[in-house]
Amino acid sequence: MSRLVYVINGPNLNLLGKREPHIYGSETLADVEADCRRVGADLGLDILFLQSNREYEIIDWIHEARETAAGIVINPAAFTHTSVAILDALLACACPILEVHISNVHKRESFRHHSYVSLAASGVIAGFGTQGYTLALQRVARLISETSA
Ligand code: DQA
Repeated sequence: MSRLVYVINGPNLNLLGKREPHIYGSETLADVEADCRRVGADLGLDILFLQSNREYEIIDWIHEARETAAGIVINPAAFTHTSVAILDALLACACPILEVHISNVHKRESFRHHSYVSLAASGVIAGFGTQGYTLALQRVARLISETSA
């Protein structure tokens, strides 16, 4: 049984640590990847950690995950609020999907309050900073063991 989890990051998250640090903190995406690899190893998960500024690339990775992954953790960034195409790709996946936002989107501008992606997600973590990623991995590990039990 696959223990592969895709951790997919959307646009501008390559600038994490430099971009609006008062909102997103000072940790870089490389720091987040290291945390995910450490926690993933403890949970017995194989982590594929990805980031793109291109919607089509994210969709292609979701199609790949559909064939090979046991779970998906995704921070779609601004595509959260705009992309029916990413939602449709996720709806085609049978594995657990966890949506992560570093900031508390509900405390921010109203256009960030709506998520297309949430329609496909088993759960959503927002406002836990970058810790949200490792919390999502813990949840994915639990959901994977429940479905394989
Ligand atoms: C974000 C929240 C989005 O509204 C925003 O466009 C991002 C990052 C977050 O992690 O808090 O780029 O997904």
